[in-house]
Amino acid sequence: MDTPSRHYDFGLSGIFFRSRNRIRRVFPQLQSSFGWPAALKLVVCVFLAIAASSHVVSAQSLPPVPEPPENPITPQKAVLGKILFWDEQLSTDNTVACGTCHFLENSGTDSRLAVHPGFDGIFGNADDVFGSQGVVRRNSSGVTIVDPIFGTSPQVTDRAAPSAFQSLFAPDILWDGRAGSTFVDPLSPTTVLIATGGALESQSILPILNSVEMAKDGRSWAEVTTKLAGSVPLAIATNLPGDVVAALAANPNYSDLFNAAFGTPDITPGRIAFAIATYERTLVADQTPFDQFVAGDPSALTSAQQTGLNFFQVSPCSICHPPPLFTGSRFKNIGLRDPIEDSGREGVTGALGDLATFKVPSLRGAGLKTNFMHTGQITSVTDAVLFYDPSQFHFPTNLDVAIPIGVPPPILPDLVDFIENGLTDPRLAAGMPPFDRPTLASELGAPLPVPSLAPILFYGLAAGLAVLGWKEARRPSV
Ligand code: HEC
Ligand code: HEC
Repeated sequence: MDTPSRHYDFGLSGIFFRSRNRIRRVFPQLQSSFGWPAALKLVVCVFLAIAASSHVVSAQSLPPVPEPPENPITPQKAVLGKILFWDEQLSTDNTVACGTCHFLENSGTDSRLAVHPGFDGIFGNADDVFGSQGVVRRNSSGVTIVDPIFGTSPQVTDRAAPSAFQSLFAPDILWDGRAGSTFVDPLSPTTVLIATGGALESQSILPILNSVEMAKDGRSWAEVTTKLAGSVPLAIATNLPGDVVAALAANPNYSDLFNAAFGTPDITPGRIAFAIATYERTLVADQTPFDQFVAGDPSALTSAQQTGLNFFQVSPCSICHPPPLFTGSRFKNIGLRDPIEDSGREGVTGALGDLATFKVPSLRGAGLKTNFMHTGQITSVTDAVLFYDPSQFHFPTNLDVAIPIGVPPPILPDLVDFIENGLTDPRLAAGMPPFDRPTLASELGAPLPVPSLAPILFYGLAAGLAVLGWKEARRPSV
């Protein structure tokens, strides 16, 4: 379907917005007018209350995290996974851990500003993507080489990092769903280690060999496991959490930790995946005000947040972001950009109906994010909500019929308040267990190397000229 057959416009938006310039991507930007008369706001609220009472939406709390039978959660595996997730030594050059791009205080996403030149290979224009900074390019001998795009600066992913733990319930993960439910042994393509429900395991092995994120070119599993066997776990991290300190006191090296988790000391990629995925399954951010509200505490959400929730439940938002997960874990196209720049799920399935669709992110924890959407181009929840407005440009190819959606200006602040605060587990920002973590070496001392302008411009131009040849090779299999 090329054009939307119906629009959701609550009839109050558009005319009450005015444009302002975007800093990042060039599309008209909106700002709401909050100057509505109180009486009118009341009318809208009453309408919403009536609509909400006649609209049955599952306002239940989170279900238990699905656990594949082949990899049940155990404390020993979880703590090993926590150590692996935060160990920068898991990367070739000791600069990047999984957690580097998935900070818990940002709800498992990346707040660092890193620019990828996007489809055209040229920095500084509208198709730039705000991704995550990985490693400097190295050849298979580990020697730094000049990357065609990033030179000798750290490379940047071509999509933004989603939360590493708000997709615990999704059958397929990554923005295009290419980390699938069946987990195959990385050392033996015919050996299925998890039949279904293993998307976290499937995903976790990808960054470790990815030459943008954590690896030198052509890194092998033998190199990874040999390095771990000879490393002191978290040797370059500081401020270790209590459970990690206790685990390392009992089992001071990786072979001991694998022995405690799996019964023998062998370090294998399958076991690395099992441990990391188990750790992720313990990161359940289910103590949000919304969770307390549905558990029976009416004061957990302010009345403004309840107005936001009521609107959310009767609006088309809840079609794609249904509570209590605030995602249906499906792939949808909200028309963010031209599919030629990134074909999304279609690149995995080959199905035309999947063109430009991306995994619907959970809105839980969105209040702690700084880069929104798979491009990272939007920088606040308010702007993310306003992107749906009928006055905005939505790329029409295969656009979902639910788009656009207007949010009445008097409701907008309440909706944003609900998403930002009502759906945020306070333990995340506070770094409370299970969301505690070590301090990484890269966070201390010298700041992370920032790409200098000169090589970026030079290599950006070179890449721009060679864009057609480069396009196919650019997708990092995260
Ligand atoms: C250099 C930054 C970087 C590093 C390092 C990194 N990631 Fe990610 N992560 C990303 C990006 C970018 C994506 C999205 C890629 C895509 O969908 O194409 C992602 C996606 C994910 C997802 C999918 C979430 C979802 O909802 O679809 C999970 C889970 C995840 N990463 C966990 C990990 C683990 C585990 C490690 C370490 C083994 C790791 N990441 C290392 C940047 C990084
Ligand atoms: C047709 C399905 C659909 C509908 C309807 C929808 N969304 Fe989304 N939403 C998505 C998808 C898909 C993304 C990610 C898009 C991308 O990156 O290309 C997203 C992203 C977001 C984000 C950014 C989250 C993040 O972590 O980056 C917010 C916030 C959001 N939606 C809120 C809303 C609100 C509020 C509404 C109602 C006004 C709404 N959505 C309606 C599918 C939908």
